[in-house]
Amino acid sequence: MAFIEVVGGRHLSGELTIQGSKNAVLPILAASILHKGITRIKNCPKIIDVYHMIKLLESIGCIVTWEQEGLTIDATDVNYNSVDKKYVSSMRSSIILLGALIGRNKCVTISYPGGCAIGERPIDLHLKAIKELNVEVIRNEDLIFCSTVHLIGGNIEFAKQSVGATENIILAAVKAEGVTIVNNAACEPEITELCSFLNQMGARITGAGSKTIKIEGVKELKDVDYTLVSDRIVMGTYLAAVAGTGGSVTLRGNCCEENASVIEVLRKLGCRVGVGNDYINICSNGKLQASSIIETESYPGFPTDMQSQIMSVLSIANGSSLVVENIFESRFKTVSELVKMGAEIYVNGKVAQIHGVNALYGTDVKALDLRGGAGLVIAGLMANGTSRVSGIEYIERGYQDICLDLRTLGADIRKVEE
Ligand code: UD1
Repeated sequence: MAFIEVVGGRHLSGELTIQGSKNAVLPILAASILHKGITRIKNCPKIIDVYHMIKLLESIGCIVTWEQEGLTIDATDVNYNSVDKKYVSSMRSSIILLGALIGRNKCVTISYPGGCAIGERPIDLHLKAIKELNVEVIRNEDLIFCSTVHLIGGNIEFAKQSVGATENIILAAVKAEGVTIVNNAACEPEITELCSFLNQMGARITGAGSKTIKIEGVKELKDVDYTLVSDRIVMGTYLAAVAGTGGSVTLRGNCCEENASVIEVLRKLGCRVGVGNDYINICSNGKLQASSIIETESYPGFPTDMQSQIMSVLSIANGSSLVVENIFESRFKTVSELVKMGAEIYVNGKVAQIHGVNALYGTDVKALDLRGGAGLVIAGLMANGTSRVSGIEYIERGYQDICLDLRTLGADIRKVEE
């Protein structure tokens, strides 16, 4: 078993360059199969979710190679339309291949991604939208079959904003005949990144980043070399870590503007934050003020993917804070682990009330999901004594090397393999 051992109490200082974005690269990897040719992705993070997506691409016929600057995908021969259940269950976002395979081969068989650690995560919006492109969807208990003879653009009206469903319909529509309009699209930066990648590949998409996206179908795409954006949530995680431990750190990456809501919260807690085009500098004395209320919202609101990390920080702030989780219903699981470290947090439905304590103390805790795991690492950095965080396979889904990153900033932290 492997775990992360962290000795708390050190201030963080120095500089760090942020890895490439997980949530941007997964749909881009899926998008690579729309083109019978080569895609090169620079700055691709070496994380478990990327390794899973590579396995999925290989299972349908792609040749994927790691090169010095990143990843190369040769999608000349995508011979299989059936996505293996074992890969779909290992990564929820494998459902993104539905739109890409329909776009490429007009046919796909895929199993249900199922629930996951942070909530139910249904796919009704994905399936309803795909039907609007003249795709027949047949479902049984285990599998979803989608096929079309003629992929035709349509008007999609999402009842609710969904990042994955917006990405899926864009992927399906890129090579459809005619125009697709997506209304109530998600506005997350990862959608903009996907569309910018697809346009570089020869797609014709406008409106990404707004609630209405227009996709004019094209017949052919072309080889593309793409440099991936930095990971805004990894950047946010390390900002939260410095806020909680105290110190002065500069984080380099091109996702600063996208962290505006996180920076606003950190400033309210008492941190000094300076923002440049490609860096954020944060100074904190580690003595934070509680926040009246933080609500997770879709972009540009405060991201649900930063809720656990900010909860750790609030657990030692002066006073009481409220955190409202509006996106995923089971995203307070990490609270019980924080309580083991001395935090005082009470959960009622989608609201968590946090009474700041003077100090957390190090103990053994378990990561129960990706961002919750990162939140526990932050708690360990702030705590008195030594913490051991197990369940690190969750953390490695999204962080290339969280221990090395934090050691670079002066933390006493390492991965231990037993
Ligand atoms: C993506 C991100 C995840 C982030 C989330 C919200 C990736 C790989 N993952 O997940 O890190 O936390 O956006 O920003 O990019 N919903 C439905 N029906 C559907 C689809 C979604 O009801 O068919 C609901 C979900 O249960 C949830 C909400 O819509 O309550 C938003 O989910 P969605 O935006 O789809 O999240 P993901 O794309 O799964």
